[in-house]
Amino acid sequence: MDTDKGIFIAFEGIDGSGKSTQIRLLAERMRDEGIRCHTTMEPTDSPIGSLIHQIMTGRIKTDARVLSPLFVADRLDHLLNDVDGILHKIDEGVTVITDRYYFSSYAYQGVDMPMDQVISANRPSSDLLRPTVTLFIDIPPDVAIERITKNRSRKELFEKRSRLVQVRDKYLEAFDRLKDVENVIVIDGNRNVQTVADGIWDAVRKYTSPRQG
Ligand code: ADP
Ligand code: TYD
Repeated sequence: MDTDKGIFIAFEGIDGSGKSTQIRLLAERMRDEGIRCHTTMEPTDSPIGSLIHQIMTGRIKTDARVLSPLFVADRLDHLLNDVDGILHKIDEGVTVITDRYYFSSYAYQGVDMPMDQVISANRPSSDLLRPTVTLFIDIPPDVAIERITKNRSRKELFEKRSRLVQVRDKYLEAFDRLKDVENVIVIDGNRNVQTVADGIWDAVRKYTSPRQG
């Protein structure tokens, strides 16, 4: 590993798995350790990301085959952007923590189209940068539903639950397919916030080094 460069940590998990909570805690812990770090997320807040948000909230109607390449483009801009692109940060020695990366596409778009196609379409990103480590926060879909649902109808909940079950299965399928090239650590997210945070720190501390501070 090039010790002058920052490391790249990707968080993955179904909606409500606790990614944003844990990213906040991990970034605090790293800063306490004197490690420079930057947190970010996908979809991004770029114009491409904003188009994705409008599609996901139903304000713009389109097909899964249109959404998938938008995620590809958003991800490439996330990596390559001159102002705050991930590659730039890493070259400067900053550790980057992202809430979702290409495994989200493999899992979510992989429900609607063949996963092979999604993996191939994302090759420009995987060729540019594979995460030092991908942390998959695993929780049962029923627990996710309990955490994220308020004021939803029974039908909506049923649809949401069955989608989360499919997405979780696709994550596991993608991890298995790519086990020879990706470094994925599964974290049991169905524990209290602090216990999960301690497990995450135990998993990532060996990749961090004070020289990045
Ligand atoms: P994500 O970013 O993966 O969607 P969040 O971190 O936003 O998940 O968490 C979803 C909800 O679950 C929030 O209300 C959060 O406070 C709560 N939550 C997060 N982690 C835990 C946990 N370990 N136990 C119980 N509730 C949690
Ligand atoms: P967001 O509101 O950020 O949800 P979360 O807090 O769970 O991350 O919306 C992200 C949604 O976009 C989430 O449902 C997963 C989906 N998504 C994809 O379908 N493909 C992708 O490549 C990415 C990055 C996200």
